[in-house]
Parts: sequence; C-alpha cells; structure tokens
Amino acid sequence: MKKKVLALSLAAAMAFSLAACGGGGEGGDSSTVANNQKPLVWFNRQPSNSETGALDMDALNFNEDTYYVGFDANQGAELQGQMILDYIKAHIDEIDKNGDGIIGYVLAIGDKGHNDSIARTRGVRSALGTAVKDDSGNVISEAVGTNVEGKATQVQDGKLEVNGKTYIIRELASQEMKNAAGATWDAPTAGNTIGTWVSSFGDKIDVVASNNDGMGMAMFNAWSNEAGVPTFGYDANSDAVAAIAEGYGGTISQHADVQAYLTLRVIRNALDGVDVQTGISTADEAGNVLSDQEYVYNAEERSFYALNVAVTEENYEEFLDSTVTWKPVSNQLDKETSPVKKVWLNTYNSADNFLGSTYKPLLKKYDDLLNLEVEYVDGDGQSEASITNRLGNPSAYDAFAINVIKTDNATSYTGLLQ
Ligand code: BGC
Ligand code: CA
Repeated sequence: MKKKVLALSLAAAMAFSLAACGGGGEGGDSSTVANNQKPLVWFNRQPSNSETGALDMDALNFNEDTYYVGFDANQGAELQGQMILDYIKAHIDEIDKNGDGIIGYVLAIGDKGHNDSIARTRGVRSALGTAVKDDSGNVISEAVGTNVEGKATQVQDGKLEVNGKTYIIRELASQEMKNAAGATWDAPTAGNTIGTWVSSFGDKIDVVASNNDGMGMAMFNAWSNEAGVPTFGYDANSDAVAAIAEGYGGTISQHADVQAYLTLRVIRNALDGVDVQTGISTADEAGNVLSDQEYVYNAEERSFYALNVAVTEENYEEFLDSTVTWKPVSNQLDKETSPVKKVWLNTYNSADNFLGSTYKPLLKKYDDLLNLEVEYVDGDGQSEASITNRLGNPSAYDAFAINVIKTDNATSYTGLLQ
C-alpha cells in the first residue's frame, strides 16, 4: 500500500511540479496531464454489475487516483430495518389499524439494479421477518407487486410476538419506482403508486417503508400523513427530518456531510500529490480530520464508505438542516499549498431529491473550503448520454467526479478519458 502511494506521489510530483510552474491562474495546468491519469472519483452509485452486484474493479482501478465514495449500505440497511421494527414494537397497541392481527406494510423500491437500493430492501425484509433467501443464500430483493393475500414467493409472512400476543407482518405490496421514461427512485411515481395501493387495500396499510426519503415523502404527502400511517425513508433530507415532527416515522442519515467532503477531498489530495488519507484519517495542516466513527475505508475496493445514523423522534432536531458541513472537516485550505483546480462533476439526475437537496449543496460548500472550482452538470436520470455529451473537453479539467446513471455504465465515462 505504502509503496504504491510513494510511486504514485513521485509521478504526481513530476506532473505537478510542471503544473506549479504554470504560474497559478485558475487551474490552467490541466493540459499537462493525460486525461486518463487525472484523479477520478465515482460517488453515490458504485460501478457494479446491476444483475449480480459484483463491483466493477476495472472502473474502480481506472488509474492510481481512482476511488469510490459512498456509504456502508449494509450497516445502513440494518439500521433502517431495526428502526422500523423498534417503532412497530413501541406502538404495538395502535399500529394495527384494522385490527386484523396483521401489520401490513408497503415498500417503495428505488432501483432494482442499484446495490444501495437492494441492501435497503433486504434490510427491511430481514428485520421484519419477511425475507426469503434464494438458492445462493441471498435475501431476495425483487418487488412483489401486490401481496395482499400473503401468497407471494419473493417474501413470506413474518411473525412478531409482543406482550404475549403474536402478530403477522406482511409485505402487502412493493414496486420499483421507475417512471415511463426510465428514471429510477422516482418520487412522483411513488406518490401515484400509494394512491393505487390505497384505493385497493388502504385499510390494511399500517406502515409505509421506502428505499429513500424522496419517494417516502411523496407517499407521506400524498396519503400517509393525513392517514396517520408512519412512513420511513432514508437519506435524512431536510424536508423528511422536519416531517418527523408531523408523524414521518424516521429516516437514516447516510452522513452526506462526510461523503461530500470525501468526494472532493480525495481529488484534492491527488492533485496536491499528498497521501490520500490527508485530512481524512490524518489531520491536514488546517486541522481537518475524520474519525473511524464516520467512515470506513476498504483499500481492496478502493472505496470510502460513510457510516449511517438513525434519525427518529428522539434525535431529529440535530438533523434539521442536511446541508451543514461536518464541523471537523470544515477548515479552509491554504491556496498556496492547495491551489485552485478545476473539477468536472455530475449528478445522474437533476430531479433526485437526495443529490439535489442534500449532497450538492454540501459539495458547493466544500468546493470553496478545498479551493476547487467545480463545474456541476446534472443528467436526466435516464440516458448516460445526457451527461457524457456535456464532457466534450475533458482536457479543460484537472479531475472528475462521476455519478453514473446505471451502475454498469462506467465505461461510458472512462472511454472519454482515454
Ligand atoms: C440515495 C437515494 C438516491 C440515490 C441516487 C442513494 O444513496 O439514498 O435517495 O436516489 O442514492 O443514486
Ligand atoms: Ca392490519
């Protein structure tokens, strides 16, 4: 590991001493480095096979300065499932609205080929006892469509015993929330779908669960708020956290304040030719540093994963603004040692609630602190070309941060950097 870092910083030092002679300016040194040698960070959607979940190691090892920044999907998924189960137990006397002894829930699925979405579906099913494993021992994450009778094979009825009474927990329905044009994690689709579900079996729905807050809030606003049905999401977007005061059941913070920092920080470090852990596990000169409470680094996967925190009635007040930078890494870098550089960064979909209302506002604060001039581009959530068409001149940038639309499609981007 260490050796690699040294070799790398030698190469980087050569490249950047050239750059340093370029006479400052606004990152005007990009042309001296080949595009395929520039720092590349994948974030939020990890290059991987959307069928099997296997990581795309070619993409993750594109060059010496390539990393992924995301969060620990399994730890977060477990937390989400546990949060819902705890809520059900704590409210057992009033949760079964129609008193049929079945605690019915519906589930909004984000993107059936996205590792994070899959993990969350599995987390909820595992915690509630509705999970069924496939032949290779993995919890099935497929949607059931509707399952009011409890006959679906992708899930089973769970059993919950509280105060000597046994309840059944049933996944009444689940669906991937994809719109007609193909955009996934689609909040409006979730808002419409809850209407369809409610009109055919609304009295049976006791809990609403969602792979994210965007879809969760769409369902809450369309129905569950008024119906008084607890709704659970993921992301801790500000609007969802505020809704906890009105009965939104809870959400999970994926520590976007740490992820947004890491996304730009690993780029900064590569551009400065310093160790990748600078300002991460070891303090930089400005005093920025993270602790192992906030993230894990998996060297083999070239991936930084932020850790998740449950946000419920008990602690939501600390999370009301999701766009506040993480204090321990909010110190301004010196422009002498970390001169202004240009970064090209995209989000997969301009309509994504989490990226738009939480992640991007954070990036925009960290880019200033890290002296990075970032060009932000938003995709349409459907076609990779909506993004790659806007990377016509990679030579104009010093580094790239990429949020793929489909996790299989990393080469659509790396192809442009060859
Ligand atoms: C978030 C979702 C978001 C997705 C986009 C996930 O980490 O939880 O809200 O839609 O990323 O890729
Ligand atoms: Ca019921």
